[in-house]
Amino acid sequence: QNSQQIRGPLYGKKVLVSAGPTREQIDPVRFFTNRSTGKMGFALAEAAKELGAEVTLVAGPVNIDSVNSTIKRIDVITAEQMFQAMHDNFSENDIVIKSAAVADYRPKNTFVEKMKKQPGDWKIEMERTQDILQSLGAEKNHQFLVGFAAETTNPLEYGVEKLQKKNLDAIVINNVSAHGAGFESDTNIATYVNKSLQPEEIPLSSKKDLALQVLGFIVRDMKDGKL
Ligand code: CTP
Ligand code: CA
Repeated sequence: QNSQQIRGPLYGKKVLVSAGPTREQIDPVRFFTNRSTGKMGFALAEAAKELGAEVTLVAGPVNIDSVNSTIKRIDVITAEQMFQAMHDNFSENDIVIKSAAVADYRPKNTFVEKMKKQPGDWKIEMERTQDILQSLGAEKNHQFLVGFAAETTNPLEYGVEKLQKKNLDAIVINNVSAHGAGFESDTNIATYVNKSLQPEEIPLSSKKDLALQVLGFIVRDMKDGKL
């Protein structure tokens, strides 16, 4: 055990967090991605560390410098690489939080050379990526598995659907159209739902405070044996 571990509520626990977007390459100069900045995931990793956990952070391409050198950071680019990194680290972790915004589709072909423009339209064929969280949910044994949901409509309904479909212990639902919530913002508003399906609102907070609240709920739920 690391001598710098803090004897907080997560002392002795190993926490795995994924953060940021993924990037799916079309050719050497072009790619598909989304608006995730990674701030929420980094806040979760830092908060977990402050509560005493041993933390591994799998980060997609983000512009954030790690402030806490005791957090083990694994940088990835694509959904496929994130899938690999999460599965490689899954079995040894106790709490796994998937706050990353994983690309749902990637170009079916990646061109080795830069595509030259041609007259007329360009159609890019896309294929589905694997659902990382769902595959972790299928493999889960002792882990407390937490997903995030980004929704613009019916957040509660869609969020609960994801909780159940992906075999999660809890889900943090973000209404990304709400003011002060979601992408790029330093603040967030969310609803935490565990297997009891009783939604708990987390009011507008800094991403760091929201992370601490989410971890507080997780600690409580693990103690309650909702694992
Ligand atoms: N997720 C994942 N792998 C994917 C897609 C999503 O692990 N290929 C995870 C995200 O990290 C998040 C959760 O699934 O924790 C929900 O992501 P979200 O995009 O809200 O839901 P989807 O299941 O992808 O459904 P949709 O985008 O159609 O709403
Ligand atoms: Ca998605």
